[in-house]
Amino acid sequence: MFGPVACVGAGRLGPALLRRWHDAGIPVLGILGRDDEKTDAALRFCTVGRRLSSYGELSAAEIVLLGVGDQDLAGLAVDAAAAGAVKPGSLWLHCSGVHGLEVLAPLAEKSARLAAMHPLCPVPDREIGYRSLAGKAALIESAAADRACLQELAESCGLLPVHLDRPIDRALYHAACSLAANGLTSLVDLSTGMFRSISGLEPEQIEPMLSGLMAGSLQACSEVGSSAALSGPVARGDHRVLAEHLAALEIGTGSEVYRSLMLHALKMALVAGQVNQSQASAIEETLRGHGEAAADG
Ligand SMILES: NC(=O)c1ccc[n+]([C@@H]2O[C@H](COP(=O)([O-])OP(=O)(O)OC[C@H]3O[C@@H](n4cnc5c(N)ncnc54)[C@H](OP(=O)(O)O)[C@@H]3O)[C@@H](O)[C@H]2O)c1
Repeated sequence: MFGPVACVGAGRLGPALLRRWHDAGIPVLGILGRDDEKTDAALRFCTVGRRLSSYGELSAAEIVLLGVGDQDLAGLAVDAAAAGAVKPGSLWLHCSGVHGLEVLAPLAEKSARLAAMHPLCPVPDREIGYRSLAGKAALIESAAADRACLQELAESCGLLPVHLDRPIDRALYHAACSLAANGLTSLVDLSTGMFRSISGLEPEQIEPMLSGLMAGSLQACSEVGSSAALSGPVARGDHRVLAEHLAALEIGTGSEVYRSLMLHALKMALVAGQVNQSQASAIEETLRGHGEAAADG
């Protein structure tokens, strides 16, 4: 059984995890925020814990979750270590994808155990996070001796732990996460805008069209892999249809994103043997040629 958990940061992910741990029966000490009102709101959401008012109070916790932004972690580690916040042997973990354990080094000098637990799940607000964390992967970096503890901690809030055996290129890892999550969200927004600009389509008709296309694509990718899942004019080698698409897309309404993604789709279609070299050249010329014409215009 775990000792009390405290959270630094009254934002989105920290309180969502805290509430899940509370649901799992793990004792919660409270939240140390920067703003009393925001902290109280986060505590109401968690339905447990009290407002902590100084780094010193964190020394009553066995586990300290650092739910602050990536850019605030290094300063927080320095300040908390200097303020005597570390109970020797306590576990301090952050949720950043872009940082490894090195960012918390000042805490290790005060005998804290360090870990990183990055849930691969978009958390636009704490309510959505609380509901959607279950069943999502979490990349975990810790000392080998803490692996079992992190396994249990992640599983107790419904996450599926993926342990690292050695440090990875975090910037590349985080870029991939960001493209998959934030890129997809941007794509939803761009596609929705295109549908909405079509006279004759009603807003309530658009959502099922879009979600069917996106869910169907993800489903096909998970069943046969991304290359085999590709369909549409690029996979069919049809540069004429692509030219019609580009002519219909106005600058600033996603045409640049469309071109980039279709050029990538072309690479996939070539590697998978869906198009031959002459079809690929015609498609590439169409996609790039229109770009130059549009930029000139
Ligand atoms: N949200 C996601 O989708 C997501 C997913 C996976 C991982 N993560 C990771 O989770 C961590 C937190 O992200 P988030 O989205 O939850 O951030 P967030 O909503 O911006 O919350 C961060 C909170 O930390 C507070 N804070 C910053 N420095 C502090 C300090 N020294 N003492 C006390 N509070 C402090 C901020 O206070 P103010 O309100 O005063 O600025 C803010 O309330 C990040 O490392 C992020 O990479 C997030």
